[in-house]
Amino acid sequence: MPETLPGTAREIRLAEVSSGLPGPEHLIVAEVPLPVPGAGEVLVRNRWFQVFPSLRTLIAGGVPGTPFPPLRPGDTLFGPAVGEVVTAPHNDDPRPGDLVAHFQGWREYAVVPASAPLGDSLPDPAAHLAPGATAYAALTRIAGLRAGETVLVTGGAGGLGSLAGQIARLLGAARVIGTTGSSAKAERMIAELGYDAVVLRDGSPIGGRLAETAPEGVDVVVDTVGGEQLQAAVAVARPGARLVVVGTLATQLSAASGGTTAPVELDAFQLIAKNVTLRGLVGVDDETRAEWTERFGSWLRSGAATFPHTRISGIDNAPRALRELFEGRHVGTVVVEL
Ligand SMILES: NC(=O)c1ccc[n+]([C@@H]2O[C@H](COP(=O)([O-])OP(=O)(O)OC[C@H]3O[C@@H](n4cnc5c(N)ncnc54)[C@H](OP(=O)(O)O)[C@@H]3O)[C@@H](O)[C@H]2O)c1
Repeated sequence: MPETLPGTAREIRLAEVSSGLPGPEHLIVAEVPLPVPGAGEVLVRNRWFQVFPSLRTLIAGGVPGTPFPPLRPGDTLFGPAVGEVVTAPHNDDPRPGDLVAHFQGWREYAVVPASAPLGDSLPDPAAHLAPGATAYAALTRIAGLRAGETVLVTGGAGGLGSLAGQIARLLGAARVIGTTGSSAKAERMIAELGYDAVVLRDGSPIGGRLAETAPEGVDVVVDTVGGEQLQAAVAVARPGARLVVVGTLATQLSAASGGTTAPVELDAFQLIAKNVTLRGLVGVDDETRAEWTERFGSWLRSGAATFPHTRISGIDNAPRALRELFEGRHVGTVVVEL
């Protein structure tokens, strides 16, 4: 018997734009009529969605040229989500009961374009929310990591970084170094996430401590932080090092910054003298994403890798989850479970 659907559903909207970091006081839980799918669309009940740091940038006005539009007061927040199809007004995939990935998180129900079901490609469907494809693309496609090399991952306990360390280890890195903001996270990074050494972001300059931790330099950098940590990475880069800039957490999550620019002063002599390659990365092509999902699934099943994440239950707690992400309370991807 077809299930009875509610007439309304809840979603999280931006109430107002703050000058510093947005918090629960700037968001509201709105009750809205259940959306109705049109041609080529399906209605899904969201099961999990990711709380991601780019929301700070989007609420602050966004960055032209990046994939996501800015958020304005009254808009519903969005982001990676996995939902269960409840009505599909056609005979193709996906069918009711299938799980699909989409970008309409932060709401209980969403109308999304029909897409292939996720199937059992990953043993835990919530693991589709991990930003591992970007880490994998940075290490394999952009940096071309070779076995025996030394890798630095800034923000190594975050959603992306907690996978980058494990991937680097599995691809044969000889030494994996990370940075993080707390010693408790550093312990977990070494015990569980493939890191050999961790340098703490503790308010004092990080460059000297990173140089002591990597006395022979680093070959590959996955930088999710920018700022002082990118400067330090350039300083410890070995000749021929490849640096991939994927994030800007130092300014993105700073209340003092506007959140939409991430200026950093680099020593160009170091780049030239050491033949350093410095590349940005945004988005992952379909082929690389499919390869990542296949490898991630087999690593998860064999126990070679984990999906580090924190689950926070209930849409009412989603605004608090955003604040906790900004405060650096959690290791790995922050997921709201509905
Ligand atoms: N280019 C792409 O295609 C792509 C894809 C995904 C994500 N990204 C970007 O990559 C970055 C990381 O994403 P994520 O999802 O993995 O985020 P995340 O690391 O989970 O973000 C939260 C973490 O940021 C760290 N943090 C907070 N304030 C900081 C500060 N002032 N300086 C340095 N670190 C700070 C904290 O970790 P610690 O306590 O460990 O310091 C906190 O736990 C973000 O900038 C994101 O926008 C880019």
